[in-house]
Amino acid sequence: MNGNFTYCNPTKLYFGRGAIENLNIELPKYGKSVALVYGGGSIKKNGIYDRVVEILKANGKEIAEISGVMPNPTIEKLYEGMEIARRAKCDLILAVGGGSVCDYSKALSASVNCEGDPWQKYYIDFEEPSCRTLPVGCVLTMAGTGSEMNAGAVITNHAQKLKIGHVFADEKMMPRFSVLDPEYTLTLPRYQVMAGIYDIFNHICEQYFSGEDDNTSDYLSEGLMRSLIISSRAANKDLNDYEARSNIMWTATWALNTLIACGKTTDWEVHMLGQAVGAYTDATHGMTLAAVSLPYYRHIMPYGLKKFARFAVNVWGVDHAGKSDRQTAGEGLSRLEGWMRELGLVMNITELGATPDMVEGIADSTLIMQGGYKVLTRAEVVQILKESL
Ligand code: NZQ
Ligand code: ZN
Repeated sequence: MNGNFTYCNPTKLYFGRGAIENLNIELPKYGKSVALVYGGGSIKKNGIYDRVVEILKANGKEIAEISGVMPNPTIEKLYEGMEIARRAKCDLILAVGGGSVCDYSKALSASVNCEGDPWQKYYIDFEEPSCRTLPVGCVLTMAGTGSEMNAGAVITNHAQKLKIGHVFADEKMMPRFSVLDPEYTLTLPRYQVMAGIYDIFNHICEQYFSGEDDNTSDYLSEGLMRSLIISSRAANKDLNDYEARSNIMWTATWALNTLIACGKTTDWEVHMLGQAVGAYTDATHGMTLAAVSLPYYRHIMPYGLKKFARFAVNVWGVDHAGKSDRQTAGEGLSRLEGWMRELGLVMNITELGATPDMVEGIADSTLIMQGGYKVLTRAEVVQILKESL
């Protein structure tokens, strides 16, 4: 391993059935006023809302609700939440939901006490908070983003056709604690489960496909990918398979909590393409990644041939004997494609609502990253998007 890094992850995790009871340990550490942030209502249907409110009340908390946080949360919604949290003088933000709710809560944490426009400050100028931020806790209801243990907060600006992630530099912006009960994810629709699985897989790929050195992080990544392939197949057969769903939830956390990026440059171009598609279509995050992945990976494969061959052998079990790196690497991507089709992932952006006339605009919204095997030109971005239609 050749890269330098700093590793610090202060999020305390409570994992497993009944983990929600641990809120009773965490809540007394914070002041009286709690912003309870949630989405479009799934937590009211499955009973999680009632249990959380009960525990908050038992701990003497005053609750300011910020509800209706949509998938791919918008900047307008953030402005709305800032008003509510300011009025209630919140001491803690409790996010109850998926990545959208957790991300939103972190963006809120960095904005409540800050002057100026958070969009300009965090998403255009990529500044760090210069104000007192609020602590965030999470009760996770969907496995995928890793938001429960990282400092990322993705916000969409429809007017500017941009969907941008800010990964805050200060580990204080990571949730102070997260409650991960796999049973809470059992009410998710199949489409969201599968989108989450691909999101996890792609987070690992984004960190795996970079660098030439022998790096412990890559071995960790391979183990996580193998585990995910097995648990995703089990979940695909039976969505109520607790063992599989619990492995998926745990893999999601480790796929994006900074561990497997240690000592790596990391790529993230699939996410940049997917986020730009998301800015135009508002499609489900994991599906936007699935829809652009194969054209992207087939395009960059020649520039990182050895790693793609290793991926084929160590992750997919391809037999390399008597084959060239190119043959083996190609077989690995075919196996990846087969698995994606097995899970019923969306394999093109047309199905997500993108049209040929959007390609130039989506390309304009795609940030070009420097850390992968090939720094794309704009023409290559356009080509990959066309191949993804
Ligand atoms: O809003 P509700 O009614 O709760 O419904 C949600 C939403 O419609 C539903 N859902 C969640 N838990 C459920 C449930 N339905 C039934 N039962 C449950 N237990 O699922 C839908 C999707 O939820 P969402 O939170 O949007 O999904 P996800 O966790 O995939 O989060 C996506 C957001 O995270 C960002 C994405 O860009 C996107 O904005 N990301 C955040 C990252 C980070 N913090 O590091 C990295 C990722 O790459 C990603 O970009
Ligand atoms: Zn993602």
